[in-house]
This record gives sequence, C-alpha cells and structure tokens, in this order.
Amino acid sequence: MAIKRVSTGIKGLDDLLCGGLPENSCILISGPPGTGKSITSLHFLCEGALNKEVGVYVSFDEPRESILLSGEELGFDLRKLEKKNKLVILEYFTIESNLYLGERKRVEEEINALVKKRKQLEENGKATNNLDNRIAMLRDRIDEIEKAVRESRYNVTQHEREEIFFSRLNEIIPLVKAKRLVVDSLSAYMIYGVSKDSLHMFIHRLRDLDITVILISEDAEDIKSLEKTAEYLVDGVIRFHHLDSNTDTLNLQISKMRWTKQKRGYASYKITPKGIVVK
Ligand SMILES: Nc1ncnc2c1ncn2[C@@H]1O[C@H](COP(=O)(O)OP(=O)(O)OP(=O)(O)O)[C@@H](O)[C@H]1O
Ligand SMILES: [Mg+2]
Repeated sequence: MAIKRVSTGIKGLDDLLCGGLPENSCILISGPPGTGKSITSLHFLCEGALNKEVGVYVSFDEPRESILLSGEELGFDLRKLEKKNKLVILEYFTIESNLYLGERKRVEEEINALVKKRKQLEENGKATNNLDNRIAMLRDRIDEIEKAVRESRYNVTQHEREEIFFSRLNEIIPLVKAKRLVVDSLSAYMIYGVSKDSLHMFIHRLRDLDITVILISEDAEDIKSLEKTAEYLVDGVIRFHHLDSNTDTLNLQISKMRWTKQKRGYASYKITPKGIVVK
C-alpha cells in the first residue's frame, strides 16, 4: 500500500518530496538561524488547519507573541486558527512556570494553615518552634519559586522536563485531535544538557505519538554530535543552507526521507512576504 502523503503547504517542497511528508513520520528540519525553519513549520501547520488536520506548535525559545506576529506578517492568521480550535501554540516554559505557580499556590495554602495553627498554640501558651521552622522553610521555597519563575530557570531535571513535555502533549493531542506537531526547537530542548540515551527516548516517544512531526534543529556547533544521532533516528532530514550573504536566495537539500524516492542535490528557495517559495 502506498504511503499517504501530508502536504507541507509549500508547493515546490511537496514536489521534491513526491507529494509531501510521509504521514505520521518524524522529520528533522535543520539549518542555521534565519533560514526559514519556523516559517516552514507555520506553512505546514496552516496547511493542516485549513484541511481539517489540527496542529500543535510547541515553542521552546520563541515567545508565543513573536510567533503570532511573524505569522501575521506573512499572512497566516494564527489567532483565528487558534480560536477555531484548528491550531494550538504552546510555549514550553509557560507550561513549566504554570507547574511552578501551581506549586506556589499549594505552598501558600500550607503556610496559611500553619500560621492559623501557630496562633492557636500561642494563645494556649504552647511552644511554636517546630511550626516556626516549617513556616520559614516554606517561605524560602516561595522565594525560590518566585526567583525561578522570574528568571525562567527551573530546577527541573532532564527526565522531569521530558515527562512534563510528553504529559502535556498526551493531554492536548487527543483533546484537539491533532494530526500535526512542530517542536521548535530540539536544540533549545537540548540546551540544558541531554544525553544520547535521553535523546533516543525523546525521538522514540515523538514517533509513538502517531502524528506527523516536524522537529526543528539549529545546526549549532556545540550540539553537532547529538544532532547526528537525531538524524539517524528520525524518518527524514531536510537541511536549509545560506548560499552566501550577498543574496536572498537560500537552498535546501532533502538528505534523508524514508519511503520516498530521493531527489538528490540542492533546490533553491526564497523567503518572500508571503512565506517560503521553493523553485
Ligand atoms: N515578511 C517577510 N518577508 C520576507 N522575509 C521575511 C519575512 N519575515 C521573515 N523573513 C525572513 O525570514 C527569516 C526568519 O525566518 P524563521 O524565523 O523561519 O527562521 P529560523 O530558521 O526559524 O530562524 P531561527 O533559527 O533563528 O529560529 C528572517 O531572517 C527574514 O530573513
Ligand atoms: Mg525559528
């Protein structure tokens, strides 16, 4: 049976891919900053949203407002698609900070209860030392949480980060019946230190979601060896390149695409006011 294809929303790219990305595949788009990786993923999500395939975009570094604005500039009405439940844009660190703020609420409730109890003990002339210590400890925890939220630095281990990420996806994907997912970017996810084993697990779990996934990667020197690992774990790799700094033409190369007749070589593309155009 022929593999079903999923349009990227970019005609020239679909042609190079023999019709589109293989349905439910996990594809890595890698390239230096400013080569249009995020814009490509907006084409992919909007194409889905307009064809009854709901998309989820998880941003690790770019704020939601910046994504909405860049979509607006290119003529993608992301807010409208979100209102119609055809698209969900999530900032990963907001998910973490919400967990932290939830913890702050719980700690505050405990402090309030202990303060009441302490008052009663005091009125009855009893010792309050134990409660005082506990209240001081909890107040320190509140300070820690507030500092972490202010500085967007959470004491979350890699394993916890992976769990938070997938538990949110496992909630949202069935809820909105998503068929497409963008993770922007793997490099930002890995910046806090990821071992090869946990990268393996991360990609394995993405593939297990059974939806078409675009995973963006920054092509940065300091994570090169992990990226190589990611490349052989995913189903396809599309690389974006700058041609040279004097021209606005860029080029891309499909360096791996399972189940697809490979068209070798480079194709040139431009980022225009209407988005990516592949020649
Ligand atoms: N309205 C527009 N018209 C023409 N070109 C644009 C427009 N908006 C953005 N661009 C170009 O697109 C580039 C940004 O694209 P995009 O955000 O997709 O890059 P990226 O590869 O995701 O970068 P990063 O790795 O920094 O996230 C800008 O550097 C700019 O050259
Ligand atoms: Mg980007």
